[in-house]
Amino acid sequence: MKHGRIPDEVIEAVLKAHDIVDTVGKYVHLTKSGHYMKGLCPFHSEKSPSFTVTPEKQIYYCYGCHAGGNAIHFLMEIEGYHFGEAVRHMAEEAGIAVDLEAASPEQTEQQRTANKLLEAYELSAKWYHYVLRNTEQGKAAMQYLRTRGVNDKMIDAFQIGYAPPMWEKLAQFMEKREMPLALLEQGGLLSARSDGGYFDKFRDRIMFPIHDWKGRVVAFGGRAMGDVQPKYLNSPESPIFNKSRLLYNFHRARASIRKAQHAVLFEGYVDVVQTWEAGVSNGVATMGTALTEQHAEVLRRNAEHITVCYDGDNAGQAAAYKSIAILEQAGMHVKLAVLPAGMDPDDYVKTYGGERFRSEVLQEAIPAVQFRLLYAKRNFQLQDVDDRLRYIDTAVKIIGQLASPVDRDHYIRELAAEFSMTAEPIRQQMNEFRQQHLKKRSVGDNKPNSWNNVMNNEGTSEAMPTVHYPAYHKAERMLLAAMMHDREVAQEVEKQIGDAFNVEAHAALAAYLYAYYAHGYEPDASKYIATLHDEKLERAASSILMLETSEAVNNQAIGDCIREIRKQSHPLQQEIKRKNEERVRAERSGEVILAAQIAIEIITLEKQLKSI
Ligand code: CTP
Ligand code: MN
Repeated sequence: MKHGRIPDEVIEAVLKAHDIVDTVGKYVHLTKSGHYMKGLCPFHSEKSPSFTVTPEKQIYYCYGCHAGGNAIHFLMEIEGYHFGEAVRHMAEEAGIAVDLEAASPEQTEQQRTANKLLEAYELSAKWYHYVLRNTEQGKAAMQYLRTRGVNDKMIDAFQIGYAPPMWEKLAQFMEKREMPLALLEQGGLLSARSDGGYFDKFRDRIMFPIHDWKGRVVAFGGRAMGDVQPKYLNSPESPIFNKSRLLYNFHRARASIRKAQHAVLFEGYVDVVQTWEAGVSNGVATMGTALTEQHAEVLRRNAEHITVCYDGDNAGQAAAYKSIAILEQAGMHVKLAVLPAGMDPDDYVKTYGGERFRSEVLQEAIPAVQFRLLYAKRNFQLQDVDDRLRYIDTAVKIIGQLASPVDRDHYIRELAAEFSMTAEPIRQQMNEFRQQHLKKRSVGDNKPNSWNNVMNNEGTSEAMPTVHYPAYHKAERMLLAAMMHDREVAQEVEKQIGDAFNVEAHAALAAYLYAYYAHGYEPDASKYIATLHDEKLERAASSILMLETSEAVNNQAIGDCIREIRKQSHPLQQEIKRKNEERVRAERSGEVILAAQIAIEIITLEKQLKSI
């Protein structure tokens, strides 16, 4: 069996080297429940866990959204990898050698350009980091970072570097490596001279590598050390760098964000680095650009909750205010962590320490509505009666947009109490506002997943809701489950019915299973799934593997299944189908007696079929 160009042995070794509980556990909090583990599904939003991992079979399966497969497939789904990428990633992690060239399919011109740029960025990042850590030129930069409270551990973890003040160091280095300099100019690492040569774009700057979600360096943020303008010089957009989608530190924070279903959004690179060291593992930042809908979408796909923690100055608060609507629109629950005026997270951590940052800033983050109220309040002189009333009017509009009546009531009461008023007239005003402006629209009520929560965790897979399949369908699933667990059963079924399963996917699964056993492999759910290479089939196989086959699958039961399957393709069954269509036609055209006659014929045929 061939898997693209990755040899079977590699796939086998990769699966052996990774326990699926560990692989999944990096993204999902799992708790033991009988012979499997369960947790909240990372692939759909839910409140009670329908996501399971079965260590014994090395597979995962979600009873809510039917995601399922082995460890490789999990990584594909959660990281968006192709099969080859997932295998390579897991192989690297386990120290298994894979021939990268052989495994990658043919590249298009565009991919070649992108790959070359990636290579250049990777090299530059290493080189800048080296210059900072190991050279004389890097000393002043190291000193600067130390005074800013960035220690060696942070420098290494974030691969921070230094671009020396010379004009052609990187250009020469790249030339020696035979990198295409024109491309590096396009990619923003070099600048073109009028006489045709190239010089370094980044000079005398602290270099923050920016990684894409796969952890590849795709850009730099270059911080000047003095008062040089611009303070930050950033890589331009390129085939590998999209500012409006990328978030700084996302690749490092992602697992933690998913696990906690919570992200923290900062403004600056240094904030992320500093708070990371202070134990905030789910922090990300935009890159000198305003938060976009695409950023919000990326965040929402990974978490339900977000805390916005921008600088305590006016610009920071204004940006935070703007971010609320974008994040809420994407469906996130937004809170805001407010810093003392003039402080940014970096300053706060350095002044008060990481612990206080977490307990007094992040923990004390306020709901979006409260932030909006505070933000609005700044425009009014509250000691002035007129202004006070105008503020209340503004506040009523903010509160009136809340979807939950309980929340609205809470904030109306608070507002009334704040100005020693009775709540009733304020509530009335809000209701009028709602009637005028929000008629049928339910603002903020954007929970798309209503089918969630199907499961009421009785604790065993049998208790979970199952789809109701027709008898032959069930029989095929039962039979396949038994076949997956037992080579002899598979051989027997192959002899008797081959791939004459009625459901197409089942026929395919059987065919793959015969091929699997023909290779001399032992029953192994996860390994078998790795041979399928088709998402639909992987899901179907995982779902079937969740069936309880422990009650001895005896010959009797297998015989029953086979009979049930055969019936479906039996000429009598075809006859019944035809008769049924006839009956429906008769009913439609009002020929009641004819329809009744056909119905009786059908019953007779069904009896015959049962007795086979
Ligand atoms: N930024 C930028 N270009 C600038 C200024 C800022 O791209 N000229 C971006 C950077 O991503 C920066 C973020 O905006 O991290 C926040 O800006 P600011 O608060 O001014 O910088 P800090 O992160 O606080 O940087 P430092 O602490 O080094 O002053
Ligand atoms: Mn700052």
